[in-house]
Amino acid sequence: MAEPIVKRIRTRHFVNAKREGIKITGLTSYDTLSAQIFDAAGIDFLLVGDSAGNTVLGYDTTIPVTVDDLIPLTRAVAHSVKRAFVIADMPFGSYETGPDEALHTAFRFMKETGAHAVKLEGGVRSAEQIRRVVSAGIPVMAHIGFTPQSEHQLGGHVVQGRGEQAEALVADAHAVEDAGAFAVVLEMVPSAVAQRITAELTIPTISVGAGPHTDGQLMVWTDWAGLSTGRVPTFVKKYANLAEVLGEAAKRYRDEVQEGVYPAPEHEYEG
Ligand code: KIV
Repeated sequence: MAEPIVKRIRTRHFVNAKREGIKITGLTSYDTLSAQIFDAAGIDFLLVGDSAGNTVLGYDTTIPVTVDDLIPLTRAVAHSVKRAFVIADMPFGSYETGPDEALHTAFRFMKETGAHAVKLEGGVRSAEQIRRVVSAGIPVMAHIGFTPQSEHQLGGHVVQGRGEQAEALVADAHAVEDAGAFAVVLEMVPSAVAQRITAELTIPTISVGAGPHTDGQLMVWTDWAGLSTGRVPTFVKKYANLAEVLGEAAKRYRDEVQEGVYPAPEHEYEG
């Protein structure tokens, strides 16, 4: 497997990777320790997703998440990486009213966190917001297909772009490319539709449950590492079982404290 060679990932590396057929890898991250580990492992980009609503803040959906919730998490991640490209997710209610609101929110993330780009949901409906943010010099990752901030309108976690819906999804993809997005996330989209979009666009496509024919892959790290204890989507592959590891460690710690095994002499201070 090729070692990461670039010092700092930039938007041009996303486009070059697509041209050269090198797959792009991304994970979410919400804190300094995971960011340092993923950066050192050569993960290309870290998304400080509003999935923090589910993974950090204890909500059922991403809808209550605010800009003020995400700013400290994004700052922690951005300040912890040497190579990875850090993307701040614009939460629900922070860009939908129009380009001015979108730019205001994007400015906050760029000035207050050190992120390298922002992400927002929506295709045709968000194209003007993307255009305005990009025209101010801020890279935008778009996000189409299943967009969790609209889950009530979409009727839950439902695959998008099946059958007759495919044309609208392709139109969304072209709209965000035309508006200047440097990459687009395709979430919960049939593989064949994602393959078609990937072939038609010049910007890279990033799959979140959109199959293997995209230019890159992204997963929510707590699902990917088996830290999430609830049901995970079909497309998730668990690369570790952290919930089990931590649960076992917590039980052993409890037992050792109760049995007087911990702390042992080597854990004590003298004098
Ligand atoms: O918030 C998030 O983590 C996301 C990804 C799942 C695309 O938006």
